[in-house]
Amino acid sequence: MPFYKNLVKVPIFVIVFGTIIFAQSGFKNLQVLDKNISKDDLKATMNSFADYLDVKCSFCHIIDEYEKDEMKHKRVAREMIKLTQMIRNDGKKYFSKDHKDEDFTCYTCHNGNAEIKPYNPDDDDDWP
Ligand code: HEC
Ligand code: HEC
Repeated sequence: MPFYKNLVKVPIFVIVFGTIIFAQSGFKNLQVLDKNISKDDLKATMNSFADYLDVKCSFCHIIDEYEKDEMKHKRVAREMIKLTQMIRNDGKKYFSKDHKDEDFTCYTCHNGNAEIKPYNPDDDDDWP
């Protein structure tokens, strides 16, 4: 899956200046993303989540009832969006000048896995 394309191209947390240009999107339950996000940008954002974690939409959603919050993974993901936004907003403090805010994504931590396992150096067989 060419996730790296999304890393560069997908505007994940798009601040839509185009509130004026784009009409109300009609999404019912956006609590973190821009409520006026265009349909295309929301689609790109959701596709990127699926790619970054290597999951299907149904990992977080009841299909065709996307606005509902029943699924735990959706609720966790909402906190994760906040976390990612927070780190991006503070990126200047920690990362080099060459680092672009949008380079920091879910993939930076998740690396194509939904579940993050703590690394245990003792499991590393390479040690002599
Ligand atoms: C890792 C979890 C995750 C995955 C995977 C995911 N979504 Fe979402 N989705 C969310 C979260 C979280 C929100 C709510 C964001 C907010 O509150 O601002 C959301 C919101 C939405 C909404 C807006 C619903 C509304 O009216 O409020 C739609 C539509 C949607 N997702 C479609 C999809 C589709 C289609 C896919 C698969 C391509 C997908 N999502 C994959 C987590 C996910
Ligand atoms: C700074 C690192 C980091 C970033 C960035 C990050 N996550 Fe996570 N995520 C984690 C960790 C660590 C866990 C496991 C937390 C736990 O077990 O309580 C996790 C857990 C999750 C889970 C629950 C998985 C499960 O199997 O229960 C979801 C869903 C998720 N993240 C979605 C996202 C999405 C979507 C993004 C991008 C918007 C994102 N994460 C960005 C570190 C990160």
